[in-house]
Amino acid sequence: GQYQNLIVDKKGQNQNVGFIQLNRPKALNALCDELMVELTQAVTDFENDGNVGCIVITGSEKAFAAGADIKEMQKRDFSQAYDENFTAAWTKVAECKKPIIAAVNGYALGGGNELAMMCDIIYAGEKAKFGQPEIKLGTIPGAGGTQRLTQSIGKSKAMEMVLTGNPINAEDAEKAGLVSKVFPVEQLVDEAIKLGETISAQSKLVSAMCKEAVSASFEMSLREGLHFEKRTFHATFATHDRMAGMTAFIEKRPADFKDK
Ligand code: HXC
Repeated sequence: GQYQNLIVDKKGQNQNVGFIQLNRPKALNALCDELMVELTQAVTDFENDGNVGCIVITGSEKAFAAGADIKEMQKRDFSQAYDENFTAAWTKVAECKKPIIAAVNGYALGGGNELAMMCDIIYAGEKAKFGQPEIKLGTIPGAGGTQRLTQSIGKSKAMEMVLTGNPINAEDAEKAGLVSKVFPVEQLVDEAIKLGETISAQSKLVSAMCKEAVSASFEMSLREGLHFEKRTFHATFATHDRMAGMTAFIEKRPADFKDK
């Protein structure tokens, strides 16, 4: 195929769930530069595919991703890291307009956990482990681990994870709010695809608006966020799909969304 480190496919009855499996088993899906460039490309392609309403990113049963590639990083010096703005290739997943589900089995460590947290929803397999072990390598999280983790699970739990490097298991991650649901290992990917199908059945225009508004809550004051929400809500009244949705309710039939 097109990719060295990914398996890319479309899933679901209507082929409307973009599916990306990280596939670099010899390094437990360590996120080398080439893999991240490929992931950016695959996400961009699904973002531009009018039939895709949601994207699922997963790894293997052993590892979602064991972090940035330590063998690649080990050689870098400061001026290289600064010059190439190391991790700049990591932003696409967070900036994608379409909802992204991370289906995490096994290790989500360092950059692996950061990648999962760039997604919009995390589903976990029972044996998943989430951690930020960078401190054990003499560095700190560099792709959101100090920020998104803290926003997600609060200061005390985030500090403990970042300062010790010790991972938490799926059950604790669910309790802390990092993941929304936990499934048996072998059911995880199917459940994530089912969720992707449910999301894809809605108006893609409106689901992008939902994502943008929820995401704004992390960037704005409550007043600004409520204003943004209100204006976006008002904007739905200019869409075909808002009329289609409300009319279908009143006529007691399913809505025919046209993503416009
Ligand atoms: C490069 C890695 C790797 C990594 C595993 N491998 N993690 N290679 N970068 N992050 C490689 C190993 O070197 C080994 O290859 C093969 O994958 C299998 O790994 P093992 O260690 O033999 O497996 P196991 O004993 O089962 O242990 C699994 C593990 C361990 C606990 C996940 O691999 C581990 O601790 N990995 C590093 C986790 C980590 O520190 N991640 C954070 C990275 S820093 P060879 O060929 O050598 O046998 C980071 C910073 C992000 O992510 C900043 C923003 C980008």
